[in-house]
Amino acid sequence: MAEVVLEGVTKVYPGGVAAVKNLDLEVKDKELIVLVGPSGCGKSTTLRMIAGLEEATEGTIRIGDTTVNDVPPRDRDIAMVFQNYALYPHMTVYKNMAFGLTLRGYARSEIKERVLDAARVLGIEGLLDRKPKALSGGQRQRVAVGRAIVRKPRAFLLDEPLSNLDAKLRTEMRAELQKLHRRLETTMIYVTHDQIEAMTLGDRIVVMEDGLVQQVDTPLSVYDYPTNKFVAGFIGTPPMNFIDGSLLAKDARLCFCENPGIELALSDRLQQTMQEFAGSAITLGIRPECIQKRTPETDAPAGSTFEADVNVVEPLGDEMIVYISTGKNNLICKVGSHSNIEVGQQLQFVVDLAKVHLFDRNGGRNVSLNGSKAPP
Ligand SMILES: Nc1ncnc2c1ncn2[C@@H]1O[C@H](COP(=O)(O)OP(=O)(O)OP(=O)(O)O)[C@@H](O)[C@H]1O
Ligand SMILES: [Mg+2]
Repeated sequence: MAEVVLEGVTKVYPGGVAAVKNLDLEVKDKELIVLVGPSGCGKSTTLRMIAGLEEATEGTIRIGDTTVNDVPPRDRDIAMVFQNYALYPHMTVYKNMAFGLTLRGYARSEIKERVLDAARVLGIEGLLDRKPKALSGGQRQRVAVGRAIVRKPRAFLLDEPLSNLDAKLRTEMRAELQKLHRRLETTMIYVTHDQIEAMTLGDRIVVMEDGLVQQVDTPLSVYDYPTNKFVAGFIGTPPMNFIDGSLLAKDARLCFCENPGIELALSDRLQQTMQEFAGSAITLGIRPECIQKRTPETDAPAGSTFEADVNVVEPLGDEMIVYISTGKNNLICKVGSHSNIEVGQQLQFVVDLAKVHLFDRNGGRNVSLNGSKAPP
């Protein structure tokens, strides 16, 4: 068990690709932290530097009390699970799990105890005599995790370990990994490009883009208080809606306007904090669940509604995804499944003004957070 700390870590590959740029990250002891971001943003590179499979070009990497930059991978006392599982095809499940311990010279009885223990935890006791080719994807994945567990490492590194599984199995394994983490009480660093996996699994998530850390926080905080437009758009399904417009003062109140059709009054809180942006071009962000159909019963304060055409309706059972358009803006909303919305209708929609985000057009910073976390 150990914390893992990266300070100013940069990786420039031969040929000049800067895959990770000046990354600071503190993974707490026993924490499950998830690195998430689009393909090529530097997640695997970060993990491989912690494992010692890539050398950091700059910066320091510390595991527990030891700076490990110059420590070879086998002496870092961490275990890595890869996307392709990397099992030895000619060895049985038992031997695959035992192999690392055998190499390290553990006694046969100790190896047996650890392998059987791990197999029990993962529910693969019945598979120990099989070879990997006789296993399903999910079973192979368990063996790969088992091989990591038997080592009792100070930290686990997992690089997209579920991406070869079908959706249902992925959901199941996700829950199992979470249980396993609680049971093992070991630091885990988990890499995925799937934001739902990140949200559901992580104690905290690290959102990366283009080699840079954009935000590190709990899943809910990242969802509620995205620090910039990239994070706001990356976390959440369907994604947050963005509308480019401007902030104008009308009757001494600030409104977000995008002609034709959208004129939204800012909440009382934002009236104060957004004064310096009066007259400026700005991007408004609103999550799909914060746009609802207006009904006679809806509480719709002045400046919270707009009219839109319904283009597509996707019923999901418990809720409905509705694609609407107003002027040149296409928006997505998520409403209850009994909202009675049909394609071709022209309807009034109401926006939850307290949950609106505003992003600077230059650089995309979320300027509506105002230092302290504010919406929702
Ligand atoms: N061995 C290498 N040599 C040169 N460039 C590399 C090497 N490995 C990765 N890169 C580049 O570094 C960048 C980051 O790659 P990395 O594999 O860390 O991304 P990732 O976030 O894990 O992406 P994915 O989600 O696709 O796995 C990419 O631009 C990639 O092309
Ligand atoms: Mg990767």
